[in-house]
Amino acid sequence: MEKRITFPDDPDFGPFYPGSVCLVTAVDSGGRADICTVGAWALVNGAPRLFGIAMCARPSGKYYWKRYTTTCIEQTGQFVINIPHAGLKEAWDVCGSVSLTRRPEADKFALAGLTPAPAASVKAPLIVECPVNIECCVHSKLELPTHDWIVGQPLACHTAADVADGKATLLWQETASLKQPPGPAP
Ligand SMILES: Cc1cc2nc3c(=O)[nH]c(=O)nc-3n(C[C@H](O)[C@H](O)[C@H](O)COP(=O)(O)O)c2cc1C
Repeated sequence: MEKRITFPDDPDFGPFYPGSVCLVTAVDSGGRADICTVGAWALVNGAPRLFGIAMCARPSGKYYWKRYTTTCIEQTGQFVINIPHAGLKEAWDVCGSVSLTRRPEADKFALAGLTPAPAASVKAPLIVECPVNIECCVHSKLELPTHDWIVGQPLACHTAADVADGKATLLWQETASLKQPPGPAP
């Protein structure tokens, strides 16, 4: 298998960004809801189950400023991880490019064509169009140079019946290895 090497300061470092995105929803102390596209997230612990999300919290250069969603999570200690299907790409592009830190008047639900719905245990809304919604409260936080790695303890998970029954899968992106397993060079 031929491989190309890149280093951390290279603009095309690694093939992993943005990965499979989720849409994190949260509300501020006044109840205003925000949505943030998050590529850096994962299930990070088994028992209890814990999820991690990397939320930009400190400014650096052109791309890093404190997300308003980070402020919301700080203020309320709660958030929802909404897992989109591939058809919601336009929506996650909007939620990943419009920031309430910079455009506080924006209605991101309207701009992205997404519908909020009440959650069972947290104040943050669920996104109706996403087949999975995981309600979380903040368990702990690791402060990194630009991002906070926020660990969330799930309180409830809403799963579309087709996904729960195994009739639909959550593949956002097919990797080259799925299409073409590594083999001898031609
Ligand atoms: C594909 C994609 C992945 C992103 N991943 C992250 C991420 O992991 N963490 C983060 O803080 N911002 C991430 N962003 C940027 C935020 O989604 C973006 O700055 C958003 O406008 C913040 O909105 P807010 O300030 O209203 O919360 C990503 C953007 C895109 C398009």
